[in-house]
Amino acid sequence: MFKKLIDGDIMFPNIRMRRMRTDERIRAMFRETNVGIEDLIYPIYIKESAKDGQPEEISTMPGQYRYSVNDAIDFAGVLEDSGLTSTILFGIPDHKDEVGSSAYDSEGIIQQTIRGLKEQTDLVVLGDVCMCEYTDHGHCGIIKDNYVQNDETLKYLSKIAVSYADAGVDVIAPSDMMDGRVKAIREGLDANDYINTPIFSYAAKYASTYYSPFREAADSTPSFGDRKSYQMDPANFNEAIREVSLDVQEGTDAIIVKPALAYLDVLREVKQTFKMPTIAYQVSGEYSMITAGIEQGYITQDLLDETLLSIKRAGADMIISYFVPQLLGIE
Ligand code: PBG
Ligand code: ZN
Repeated sequence: MFKKLIDGDIMFPNIRMRRMRTDERIRAMFRETNVGIEDLIYPIYIKESAKDGQPEEISTMPGQYRYSVNDAIDFAGVLEDSGLTSTILFGIPDHKDEVGSSAYDSEGIIQQTIRGLKEQTDLVVLGDVCMCEYTDHGHCGIIKDNYVQNDETLKYLSKIAVSYADAGVDVIAPSDMMDGRVKAIREGLDANDYINTPIFSYAAKYASTYYSPFREAADSTPSFGDRKSYQMDPANFNEAIREVSLDVQEGTDAIIVKPALAYLDVLREVKQTFKMPTIAYQVSGEYSMITAGIEQGYITQDLLDETLLSIKRAGADMIISYFVPQLLGIE
């Protein structure tokens, strides 16, 4: 078909691409991609030491806050009233130790928030399962000999997932990048009769500098070394496909690709290859860069829509984004 066009059978001036662009009503009829609030998942940070009514603004993410349990539930309710359908929770506990025990405490901040959200909203509640916000060393697993221990960590991840499920979480979203964690979490959930609790795994998660504002927000900067022995090398594409295929075989129900904008090639290939429900995480650094650019007046607000559109166009069914309140005109 294209061959024919290139050969010049049907060409200008018979074909004029601009005809269909003349009128916004016609442009709207054939627009291939749209982003609406129903496509977005909002990340909420819950901090144990935050006081009710006094959310703490995150210095590296202007316009984003760390909330007390009560405030997080209230704010999520406000967003839901404006159309939000889903949220993903991150906790910043007071107590951190080498095994991240606050993460699986039945009275932990995430567990309390899950229970409150389930009582007071209809939001789909995702629990981010990882250890880095809960360990005193800030790594995503158990450390021995200065190395994050894979198999030992799996037991803890499974334990955290089950404790979230006990609290009523809708979805488990493991972000640690240990090998075999989808299988371990699935076994833990099933053994506790949570056979219908889905897992959305961060199957392709890169060791990215785009997370730096988050680490400030979540107080989870590793005290030594970096995360390159478990998160992926930004140079690699084929490896991402293998990572995703392993998570699919272990039984993940949806795939998260992270970060989003700098990894659209990966996102597209993952969607095309696996045809799985696919989520892109527009991470903290993406939020902060765009926010700074708009604030400085270097670029207009339209960048936000264009960026979300490009992520969806590349293959995301859903996008985790900090821009939700702004898009809804809240705050
Ligand atoms: C922790 C985790 C990170 C993010 C989500 N879960 C950071 C990291 O791996 O250091 C990043 C979120 C963001 O930057 O918005 N496992
Ligand atoms: Zn982590």
